Amino acid sequence: MRVLSGIQPTGRFHWGNYFGAIQQYIDLQHEHTGYYFIANLHALTTIREPELLRQLTRDAALDLLALGLDPDKATLFVQSDVPEVSQLTWILMTCTPLGLLERCHAFKEKKARGLTADAGLFTYPVLMAADILAYDANWVPVGQDQVQHIEVCRDLATSFNHHFAEVFVLPEARLLSNAAKVPGTDGEKMSKSYDNTIGIFEDPKQVRKKIMRMPTDSRAMEEPKDPDTDHLYQLFQLFGSPSEVQEMAELYRRGGFGYGQIKKSLADAAERYFSEAHARRNELANRPDTVDDILRAGAKRAREQASTVLERVEQACGITAN
Ligand code: TYM
Repeated sequence: MRVLSGIQPTGRFHWGNYFGAIQQYIDLQHEHTGYYFIANLHALTTIREPELLRQLTRDAALDLLALGLDPDKATLFVQSDVPEVSQLTWILMTCTPLGLLERCHAFKEKKARGLTADAGLFTYPVLMAADILAYDANWVPVGQDQVQHIEVCRDLATSFNHHFAEVFVLPEARLLSNAAKVPGTDGEKMSKSYDNTIGIFEDPKQVRKKIMRMPTDSRAMEEPKDPDTDHLYQLFQLFGSPSEVQEMAELYRRGGFGYGQIKKSLADAAERYFSEAHARRNELANRPDTVDDILRAGAKRAREQASTVLERVEQACGITAN
């Protein structure tokens, strides 16, 4: 299968990004052809400070490599290094009904929070569709919040194929059932916009503090509790081994525990889980040229692929001669 996904450099990556998406990139790279990119053009809809965007784009590359994305197995690149995708976006835009974009939750939600809605924010799913279609992707590993955007992509591809010729492959979202919507420190979906994130590369002491401050329910210690409705347990099951997770679930069902104990187990498990990646990141940060070389080689491979798809599209819709 051909697998593709993108991630915005709008802040440092958090546990939701990792378990919902990045972990899938890393697992799938061994058996499938992977294209993974840092979506800096999408990030422009929220970040307007050039130096910050540059810094976050570099951080994103370092983070992905440190977490285990292997440039010998998968293609890692920066979205804007493939201008063919922006060309394809325009072509798709000419076949996009406004109503389709008006129904997108991400747009409706941002608008409801009072963000000025510019055309970039509104047409964001069309750029995302071009990202996916430009590489003939079959699978798109993502969290739940991106599923609607992938549906939009399928709609656009279907209507283009129907109107012109069968040029696009229809992609499918790929979700992990236990991590499609990782909760944040307040129990809502973990998201930069809700200020409830825990960073993958955040200082472990800071992480522990955030965990210790997480609100919990106020039922008596003796009472048995349902693990599946508790966000601390939902987070723990992402880090623990199967036997640790089973033990934790039994503890909840038995009752008689304090949340302090669960929080400590979660902080310990998270620190252990990411410690190797922390060390790798520190090492990689001293080799900026290596990272630049990886991104340059990735962009070259990605452009080769995107330009063949763009050629097909331009032929089909009459932009180029037969
Ligand atoms: P972004 O940058 O917001 O998030 C990157 C990935 O992390 C997932 N994610 C989560 N998964 C589970 N639980 C959470 N709490 C959580 N928070 C974030 C997201 O679902 C996503 O998979 N539009 C995309 C970037 C993009 C893209 C693409 C993705 C641009 N072009 C093409 C796939 C294909 C976005 O904003 O993701």
